[in-house]
Amino acid sequence: MAPVLKVHELRKAFGSTSVLNGVSFQMRQGEVISLVGSSGSGKSTALRCINFLETPSSGEIEVMGDAISVVQNERETEIVNAANIRVFRRRIGMVFQSFNLWPHRTVLGNVTEALIYVLRKDKREAEETALSALSKVGMADFRQRYPSQLSGGQQQRVAIARVLAMRPKLMLFDEPTSALDPELVGEVLKVIRTLASEGATILLVTHEMRFAREVSNRMIFLHKGTVEQDAVPEELFCSPASEAVKRFLSSVISTAA
Ligand SMILES: Nc1ncnc2c1ncn2[C@@H]1O[C@H](COP(=O)(O)OP(=O)(O)O)[C@@H](O)[C@H]1O
Ligand SMILES: [Mg+2]
Repeated sequence: MAPVLKVHELRKAFGSTSVLNGVSFQMRQGEVISLVGSSGSGKSTALRCINFLETPSSGEIEVMGDAISVVQNERETEIVNAANIRVFRRRIGMVFQSFNLWPHRTVLGNVTEALIYVLRKDKREAEETALSALSKVGMADFRQRYPSQLSGGQQQRVAIARVLAMRPKLMLFDEPTSALDPELVGEVLKVIRTLASEGATILLVTHEMRFAREVSNRMIFLHKGTVEQDAVPEELFCSPASEAVKRFLSSVISTAA
């Protein structure tokens, strides 16, 4: 079976600033990988390049056997198989730090929106799918509420349901708990843990190191746009591959205490 995700020699520069310097890794179906590293190391940029919210400067991304490569010619960036961008977006769901729910729509309306307008489901089918996704995150009883009537943790769970309802093959999470009050972090992590245990393929950027260690099959440490270590959690924690990994681990472990 083709890997769910293959990232090959991914590079991204903003002007003269190189942010990703040739990142490569693969994910198999059902794998959970945490992408960790200090602020500014390129984690969000990597996620955004994977679903082409950001156009890589060069490199190749493959999702379930379909590839898009970006090649730099003299003055031009050429995107080979750009038509696959739509295919990627169908297969990839992304959850952001800020939940970005529509304030004037109910919880149910937020989740049915893309089902109706993107997947062209009729209203009844969309609502059934939405409710089953909302049940999964424990938010079905809140379906008639508006986002402003929910806590941050509840809003993030709705945002996760919105992605789940689209049945993505790969879920990207970019610091899904960073905007939450500490007492609300657990309920969101619990949802991610459930998805992971049910076989979802998840690429997660997080600073919750204890959670990452527990839930991940592998952890990838990004430093200045380069993969410094790609290993099972035990190995990353017990034999950090570089000074940068060591420094990072001791800083997050001391702040987590
Ligand atoms: N749109 C952009 N324009 C210019 N620089 C950017 C842009 N997005 C990110 N950067 C820079 O790229 C670097 C990596 O950012 P980011 O991927 O957000 O890191 P992380 O998510 O690991 O904190 C940072 O130095 C950031 O300032
Ligand atoms: Mg980030």
